[in-house]
Amino acid sequence: MKSQINIAVVGLGFGAEFIPIYQRHPHANMYAVCQRNEKKLNELGDAFKIEKRYRDYDELLKDPAIDAVHINTPIPDHAVQSIKALKAGKHVACTVPMATTVDECRQIVQLASETGLTYMMMETVVYAREFLFMKELYEKGELGKVQFLKASHQQDMDGWPNYWPGLPPMYYATHCVGPVLGLMRSEAESVSCFGSGTIRPELHAYYNSPFAVESTHIKFRNTDVSAHVYRSLFDTARQYRESFEVYGSKKSVEWPLIEGRPLVVHTAKKPEPEIPEEKHSPDYAHLLPKEIQPFTTHGVYDAGDNRHLSFLQGAGHGGSHPHLVHEFLSALVTNREPYPNARQSANITCVGILAHESALKGGEVIPLPAFTLV
Ligand SMILES: NC(=O)c1ccc[n+]([C@@H]2O[C@H](COP(=O)([O-])OP(=O)(O)OC[C@H]3O[C@@H](n4cnc5c(N)ncnc54)[C@H](O)[C@@H]3O)[C@@H](O)[C@H]2O)c1
Repeated sequence: MKSQINIAVVGLGFGAEFIPIYQRHPHANMYAVCQRNEKKLNELGDAFKIEKRYRDYDELLKDPAIDAVHINTPIPDHAVQSIKALKAGKHVACTVPMATTVDECRQIVQLASETGLTYMMMETVVYAREFLFMKELYEKGELGKVQFLKASHQQDMDGWPNYWPGLPPMYYATHCVGPVLGLMRSEAESVSCFGSGTIRPELHAYYNSPFAVESTHIKFRNTDVSAHVYRSLFDTARQYRESFEVYGSKKSVEWPLIEGRPLVVHTAKKPEPEIPEEKHSPDYAHLLPKEIQPFTTHGVYDAGDNRHLSFLQGAGHGGSHPHLVHEFLSALVTNREPYPNARQSANITCVGILAHESALKGGEVIPLPAFTLV
């Protein structure tokens, strides 16, 4: 693979946040942008001085100069656009979730395998600084034996448009499934989920789903560890929170209850009041090329004229954006698999899809399909 990858960013809401990172990464050429609204497309193209602009995704895929697409379009488009890109010979980075059906996941895994092209689901939590801190503790053996994992993602999506009203919580579960599987690079073997509570009747019809909360147990493959993840989207009072907890024999770590507060690290065999300790995680910028290190703490850190673009919030999601870009590009230029690759992304995504199916069947244990496992 060449050392300079021509990137096209597709979908320029959330997607626009990645443009300045690609522009500074030593292995990327931020080549093209794509979205349907011409006014906003030109505003973005002008601000970032990107000449190649597409309103039609299918036209973009015909451009032979494009090596890889980074898809940030609405959820129902992710799988269709990923499949088209792989068929057109492009590598794919795609925001979460990978797809909305098990069969779409299967098609993407199969295409990546047949073509040898790279697919990576751009799950932010597994590159957030808090997660990287916990992963470092795990890899150094400081947690001892990992006994249990737990994660949540709660958000009030009332009033969000299009496909959001009534969405079954586990259909967008990668932010809580990703970290529990990602810490030890585990695979989910089976899931069982209970729905809990009831959302307003007018929200049921969209997906025929009444649950306020979906609470899932995940059995891991080839280990004695299991995990619990839960999600809510409507009619449940909670500040936006992504959380991850790991319980080890020597140390346990919990994300804070309120956003912005420090992690809590518990150390075994200390006097009871000394067991918990509050700790801010480092930013892990040293893992990145120096050109993009500032993006772990600042969004458009030297934006100059671009500062008026208020939608560029920057440095959100635990400073994960530059790590995601670096993981994708490093995998491409060194010809290795990214984390999560197509199969791992399918395993993470299918946990959510099958958990909702389990909830509809009163908690029935449902195995993950073989194509998501090694
Ligand atoms: N933490 C995270 O991982 C995270 C955070 C925010 C958003 N997201 C994901 O990013 C995606 C986009 O979210 P958003 O808030 O920016 O949505 P949005 O609706 O604001 O933006 C969607 C963009 O996609 C473009 N688009 C839609 N259909 C298209 C098509 N067929 N071809 C080309 N462009 C098309 C639109 O023009 C727009 O620029 C969603 O899937 C969302 O789940 C992930």
